[in-house]
Amino acid sequence: MAQDEIRPEAARQAREEAAERASIAVRPEFRSQTSATSKEKVFEMNGIEVLYSGVSAVKGISMDVGHNEVTALIGPSGCGKSTLLRCLNRMNDLIPNAEVQGELLYHGEDLYGPNVDPVQVRKLIGMVFQKPNPFPKSIYDNIAFGPRILGRKDGMDETVEKALRGAALWEEVKDRLKSSPLALSGGQQQRLCIARTLATEPEVMLLDEPTASLDPASSQKVEELVYELRRQITVVIVTHNMQQAARASDRTAFMLSGELVEVGATRGLFTAPKDPRTEAYITGRFG
Ligand SMILES: Nc1ncnc2c1ncn2[C@@H]1O[C@H](COP(=O)(O)OP(=O)(O)OP(=O)(O)O)[C@@H](O)[C@H]1O
Ligand SMILES: [Mg+2]
Repeated sequence: MAQDEIRPEAARQAREEAAERASIAVRPEFRSQTSATSKEKVFEMNGIEVLYSGVSAVKGISMDVGHNEVTALIGPSGCGKSTLLRCLNRMNDLIPNAEVQGELLYHGEDLYGPNVDPVQVRKLIGMVFQKPNPFPKSIYDNIAFGPRILGRKDGMDETVEKALRGAALWEEVKDRLKSSPLALSGGQQQRLCIARTLATEPEVMLLDEPTASLDPASSQKVEELVYELRRQITVVIVTHNMQQAARASDRTAFMLSGELVEVGATRGLFTAPKDPRTEAYITGRFG
């Protein structure tokens, strides 16, 4: 505790690294059982309800997330976007007063079933946060961190390059792999965090406002990357930025006060919303 007080940033980093290490240490078994096709549903949410200390924050949400699609979650602050996103990799399990109800299927299997290890789930379903959080190690070691924990030794240079290329960062850092990522711009750091997640080959990536702390040019790069990523993986992204949702996603879900108002193809939702509340939100009349 004393150390936390003296060097809070270092202590936080140490905790994040330990958590990452713990979450990578064991692999889930259901990866091998999944041979997804492009039409397959990755997630099926049936009446998902999340309560904090008994107070409902997400109210009976039912929707699907398709394989190799980008799904955007939009809605005003406090409507439950992050809460819903955290259900998808059992991150709410780590919040002591949170309770998740309803059914959540991942490739047809109950993600909250008794034999499912949430630590393993979080490795298959990676998460990138609003604020980039590179570890105080070299760029190379940040990317190699996950694969090393998985016991991979051979071909690490190739693994690192592949992940950095996947995150559209390779060209910018290939000559300084041994330097600290803390000298990178915010947008580069965020792409580094995406590369670090990619290096462990997740099936799904959850992003919670990944560009909120970035300038427009960096945001655009991350946005383009997110759209490209769906060739490899399934993406669910929370964003406050309407243009971003419109540009970077295939499907969009609009939430309001914990409820799902409307979900559908992004183009349709933005050009011909079915619900007047969706229209009011996307035209900037509230939120
Ligand atoms: N740990 C918590 N304990 C109690 N209430 C919480 C907790 N986390 C979130 N809430 C509440 O749940 C509701 C939904 O919060 P959530 O963070 O999911 O919203 P959000 O849509 O992501 O908002 P923002 O756009 O501001 O990030 C809010 O009313 C919030 O105050
Ligand atoms: Mg949020």
